[in-house]
Parts: sequence; C-alpha cells; structure tokens
Amino acid sequence: MCGIIGILGKQDVAPLLLDGLKRLEYRGYDSAGVATVYQKHLGRLRAPGKLVHLEEKLAKTPLKGNVGIGHTRWATHGAPIERNAHPQMTDKVAVVHNGIIENFAELRDELIADGCVFESDTDTEVLAHLVTREIKGGLTPVEAMRVSLKRLRGAYAVALIFEGEEDLMIAARFGPPLAIGYGKGEMFVGSDAIALAPFTNRISYLEDGDWVVLTHNSATIYNSDDLVVERDISTSSGNEFLVSKSNHRHFMHKEMFEQPEVISHTLAHYLDLGNDKINENANPIDWKNVERLSFASCGTAYYSTLVARYWFEKLCGLIVENDVASEFRYREPPMTDKTLAMFVSQSGETADTLASLRYCRAKGVKTATVVNVLESTMGREADFVLPTLAGPEIGVASTKAFTCQLSALASVVLTAAKHRGTLDRAMETKLVRQLAELPRIITDVLKLDSDIEEICRDLMTVKNILYIGRGTSYPIALEGALKLKELSYIHAEGYAAGELKHGPIALIDETMPVIVVAPHDRWFDKTVSNLQEVAARGGRIILITDKEGANAAGINSLSTIVMPDVPEFIAPIVYAVPVQLIAYHTAVLLGTDVDQPRNLAKSVTVE
Ligand code: F6R
Repeated sequence: MCGIIGILGKQDVAPLLLDGLKRLEYRGYDSAGVATVYQKHLGRLRAPGKLVHLEEKLAKTPLKGNVGIGHTRWATHGAPIERNAHPQMTDKVAVVHNGIIENFAELRDELIADGCVFESDTDTEVLAHLVTREIKGGLTPVEAMRVSLKRLRGAYAVALIFEGEEDLMIAARFGPPLAIGYGKGEMFVGSDAIALAPFTNRISYLEDGDWVVLTHNSATIYNSDDLVVERDISTSSGNEFLVSKSNHRHFMHKEMFEQPEVISHTLAHYLDLGNDKINENANPIDWKNVERLSFASCGTAYYSTLVARYWFEKLCGLIVENDVASEFRYREPPMTDKTLAMFVSQSGETADTLASLRYCRAKGVKTATVVNVLESTMGREADFVLPTLAGPEIGVASTKAFTCQLSALASVVLTAAKHRGTLDRAMETKLVRQLAELPRIITDVLKLDSDIEEICRDLMTVKNILYIGRGTSYPIALEGALKLKELSYIHAEGYAAGELKHGPIALIDETMPVIVVAPHDRWFDKTVSNLQEVAARGGRIILITDKEGANAAGINSLSTIVMPDVPEFIAPIVYAVPVQLIAYHTAVLLGTDVDQPRNLAKSVTVE
C-alpha cells in the first residue's frame, strides 16, 4: 500500500514522477504529492484525493528540479487530507514512505520534547524529524540516515531528498518492496518495476534491511550491518506493460475479458496441451514426499486455496489446511517435515502472506508460492515458484488473477496426483482436456455480459445480499460476496448453502436477494433444497446454473443465469466469471469507482 518513486534525472523530474505515480496508483489513491530540489532548495506540491488533483496543481504551478520523489497514499496514520499527504518535509529533508513505523508514538514524544514541531498525524513525519535532528547536529545526510534508520521499528520503504543536495537521494527497505532502476546518468527508485518501466528496465531489488545512497551515476547499497553489498541487476519485463484500458470503460472490464487469453497462457505453462498431459518441466516439487499441504493467503487469493482444497483432497488424497494469512502468522501452527506450505498471491507482496511464508521458512518447512508478479518478494523468497501468467492486474478487485490462480492450482493438482500415483493416464488425459476447454467456455460465459447487467438493475436498491453454494461453489459464493461488497458497497455475505438454516436464514425476507451458485453437479439437489427454503420465506433468488440445473430447479419467480454445461472439475473457474460480472455491473449502475473502490489498495503491504 502506498506507491513511492524517486528520480535523479537530467531534466525536470516532476512530470516523470507523475507518470510513475500513475503506474503506482493501484497501491493507494487517498492523496498524492511530489517534492524536488531546485537551486538547492526543497519544494513540494501535494493534493488530497486521486492523482488527477495533483496533476492539476502541477499544471498550474510547475515544480522545477532534476531530483525528486513522489508518493501516492493509502492512509494508515491520519486522515487523507493534504497535511497528511507525502512527501512529509522539514527545512532539511523530504520523505516518502510506504509501510508503518510502529514505534512512531514514542519517537514523536521524544522529538517533541526536543523541540520538533509536527505538522501531520502521520508516522512518516518522525523519520523526517529524526534525520533533520541529526543533520542539524552536524552529521552528513548519509550519516544522519544511517543513525536514524536504527531507530525505526516496523515496516518501511522510504526515499529521501535533502535541502542543498541536487545529486543525492537515499532510500531504504524493511518489509515493503523497493526497486532500484539504473539509467545512463540517471537513477530511479520505485515500489515496483512497473513504475520504473518508462525509464529503465535494469532493475535490482533491495533486501530487507538494505539502504542505498544514490547519485546520478551511482548506487551504493548497504545491508542492515551497514556493509556495502551488491544486489543483482536484472532486466525487468515491466517495459512491456502499458497502462491502457483499450476500448473498455474500466480496467476491471478489460481484465475480465482478458481471462480466456491469460488462462490459456497459464495452462500452457503447466500442461502439454498438444499431448493431453501435464508438463513435467513445470513441476519443481517432490510431491511424493508431501503428506500435508498448508495454505495461507488473503482475500480472493485465500478463496482460490479453498477451491484447491477440494481438488487436492479428492484427486491426491492429501491432508490440506487453509488459513487466512493474518491468522496463520500469529497462530504458531506446528509444522511437520513432510508439510509443504503454499502461498497464493497476485502481488507477491501482501504483508500477512509474506510473513506466513517467512514463518514457514524459519521452521524449515518447504514453501511454494503461486504468484503473478514473479519479481516480487514472495517470488524471490519461496523455495518453489508456481507462476500465474495473468499479466499486470490494475483493477483493484482481483478478477483474471483469481481465475489464473485457480487454473494454475488445478494444473498443479494434476501434477501432484500423477506423481503420487492417484491419477492414471486416462484420467490425466480427461482432466487436461477439460482444463484446455476453459478459454473457449469462458469466452462463451463473457457473452452473458449484457444479460447479467440487466439482472443487476434489480440489485441496485437492495441493502444486503447473500451468496450461497456447496462444494467448490462455496468458495465461489464467498468470492462473489467479497467482490460485490468491495465494488458496490452493498453488504454481502457468502455461506455454505447447508449453513443457511443454522442462522442466516433468519435474515431472509422479500427484500433480501440470495444468489445461488449451483452448477448441476453432485451437490445440486441439496442446494436446491436450501433454495426452496429461501423461496418459502419470500426471498428473491438469482440462480446461477446450467440448462439442466435451470430445468431441475422447479421454482418460479427466480432470475436465472444459464451457464454452459461444464464438468465438475473446472466448474469453479467458470462460475467465478458471472459473480465477477454481477459485482462489476451492480457497481457501475450505482456509479461507484470500480477500478479504485474506496478505502482499498491493490497491494496490501501493511498488516
Ligand atoms: C479482492 C482482492 C483482495 C486480494 C488480497 C490478496 O478483489 O483483490 O482480496 O486478493 O488483498 O492480495 P494478493 O493476491 O496480492 O496477495
């Protein structure tokens, strides 16, 4: 959360900072700001709200200077108002920060007792004052930074520029990621390679505890013991990335419609589609020696692991545990030698998931990550990397990343089952063929776009919605509810259909729509019984099913979304799409900000 960028350039950097911030806006969009050094003096412009407000301000009052830093904020400490926007500044230094300085209250008290005057409610401002105090005490900026960093507890990626210094920037990382970009006579820092893509593709990543002193022509990296270290410079693929919605109204719409293509890329990585078998080269894991699979992830990624549990249990006979990472990391779960810990994440930076991965590594447990951003911290730290090839996902609500996670996990399940001897060749052929059909089937489902939009007109006025499902449709019900609430701000909850009568049914009346995810599978009849119970109490039902299910449901006065017939194995991947479309269209009809819903950020790097 929060995006930071810094540039030591050859021309005025403020417009370039803005360009980089546009690519980082997915990380937070409560407020934004830039600061530069021009003719030795620090200058700053900040604006609350979306980046466009900062852009307008900069157009009216351009900020000159060849060295500068920028920030787009997801508020942690202090309301999203200009005073709390970054850069935070004193007369000596300007700071941008992503993360949380946990001991900020005690540092603030100490600095106030020392005569510092605080202007914001942020934790970040303590770093500005700490460094300033040291500089005023006679230290150089580099020495001041070295001393100040030792005082911080918590998580940070920071970049600082200094009064009087037009060839200096210092950045540091503990927790949230920070990339260094190498240009010719120019240097860059950024929260990710995507932000730096317009400027350079030569990237290195700081490790935890690293800090770097940058000039236009050099980058000197120190580790947490203040020893000079080298970090590999790689060529990032970020340059291929274009921030464009094509002809779609929203990134989310574009990304939903990219699903057939990116699923097909993901499947092609894991499967030998020409020969209806798994691709052995894509399997880094010794599945025969795994007895227990332990998943920890967050949000939508967590729901992908709930689906995977059904597959791993049924096809591989594995013991599977699922946790939300924020609980897992503090529960101190016991780990056995034969546990494989698996972490699913689009960004590869989610603080709780990363902490869970590190917990397992510290316990000596092998870790695997199903990850979209391969250069991310999880991508670099896990023992085994299982990529999703969804491409950059800009819409804050995860769509194509989710179906790619499911596609990757389904493929990995087949590999695991084959290696464990629970999948014969005939079954392998059958299931690989089913997966191979996904791009075609999802293309057909996307044709329901305008029918689903019509159904959503009825949802605009409701206050609460329930989603129910059984088997692998249960996690899809959870995902549907999450997607709807985060985009439309309508309260929605997902339940296992069988749980309805244990409490939630009390909520049902004629004002409460219930969205039922129910392909005509082995759970269908049971789900229909639950659906009858809802109908008997006047609840409004939207049934997502196939032709057979629609005929068999036998209930009048319901809206039905009729899906293609699909085999049970791939059904959750296919049924993820209509729940995305429902959330999208309801939100668009209600006029919410679909790509950047309130209070959210794409990359959750604080816990
Ligand atoms: C919801 C959504 C979030 C993320 C969650 C984990 O639409 O996108 O729930 O799934 O924040 O993020 P990653 O996958 O980056 O670890």
